[in-house]
Amino acid sequence: MSHFSSKLNKIAKKTDKYLKSFFSKQEGNSYLVKVMKYGVFSGGKRFRSAIVVNTGKIFKINYKDLIMVGAAIECIHSYSLIHDDLPSMDNDDLRRGKLSTHKKFNEFTAILAGNSLLTLAFEILSSNDLKLSKKIKTELIKKLSNYSGHSGLAGGQYSDLTFEKKKISKKNVIEMQKKKTGKLFGFCCESIGIIKGINIPKRKRLKNIGVNIGLLFQIIDDLIDYKGDSAIVGKPTKRDKKKGKATLINLLGYKKTLLFAQNLKKKIDQQIKKYGIQAKDLLDSVEFIIDRKF
Ligand code: IPE
Ligand code: IPE
Ligand code: MG
Ligand code: MG
Ligand code: MG
Repeated sequence: MSHFSSKLNKIAKKTDKYLKSFFSKQEGNSYLVKVMKYGVFSGGKRFRSAIVVNTGKIFKINYKDLIMVGAAIECIHSYSLIHDDLPSMDNDDLRRGKLSTHKKFNEFTAILAGNSLLTLAFEILSSNDLKLSKKIKTELIKKLSNYSGHSGLAGGQYSDLTFEKKKISKKNVIEMQKKKTGKLFGFCCESIGIIKGINIPKRKRLKNIGVNIGLLFQIIDDLIDYKGDSAIVGKPTKRDKKKGKATLINLLGYKKTLLFAQNLKKKIDQQIKKYGIQAKDLLDSVEFIIDRKF
């Protein structure tokens, strides 16, 4: 296992441990909790949590706080995947090597478990376990809710689905991908600026790095869909073309898209290098994105 993969594994374990302890404190015995756990503890890479931890390292933020913020983001991410696989959206039956949540249970159960994971994220950020000031917590909640809604993840997903089988410009594809995937990554980095209390322009710089990391992550996900092996990826591949998804590959072809991704990576690297030696793990995270096979 590469050095970065073992570090990612460690962060994934810590994130899952925290999430498990949070779930164990949930009151009542709703059947939905079982479904939420199926959706969230299903072998995700926890890469967003790693971006939080590795950005936090630059600013020497308390590790437990980083894991909690990462856990909240991973809940929103897992909710988005449960909904993304629904028949009315991407209609995919396989996720993280297992049946998608609506296939394992049923559609209404998957929708409601997804909703409940979304709100669980805000329960985590507002819980007393998170030892940050009320002002910081409110700002975290404000930004994360904004980036998850119509101007972020949900809005991007809406565009992704309405763009299917239409001729969409490169600019609009990029804008859609920055919303559906980039904004949540933007929060991974910006949350560190919020916790540290740095000024707005500096916070914006962090957010911008995160959004670009998310865009790169989505473009590589699209390349993996094009070239990858479903058995390794753990989800169906070669689906985007069939669905007429508005991706850079469908617009520019494989080679030009790969080149675009490589140039974007260089730009992100330059932005990160300004933070000095402490940013090494964040740089390695970006390297991981471009090398990943799953
Ligand atoms: C897949 O995300 C969906 C995208 C936004 C591209 P990940 O590749 O991070 O999925 P998991 O969490 O590791 O399963
Ligand atoms: C999903 O993008 C982005 C989300 C915000 C959920 P995809 O539809 O490409 O993700 P996969 O390939 O199904 O994981
Ligand atoms: Mg999708
Ligand atoms: Mg999908
Ligand atoms: Mg995909």
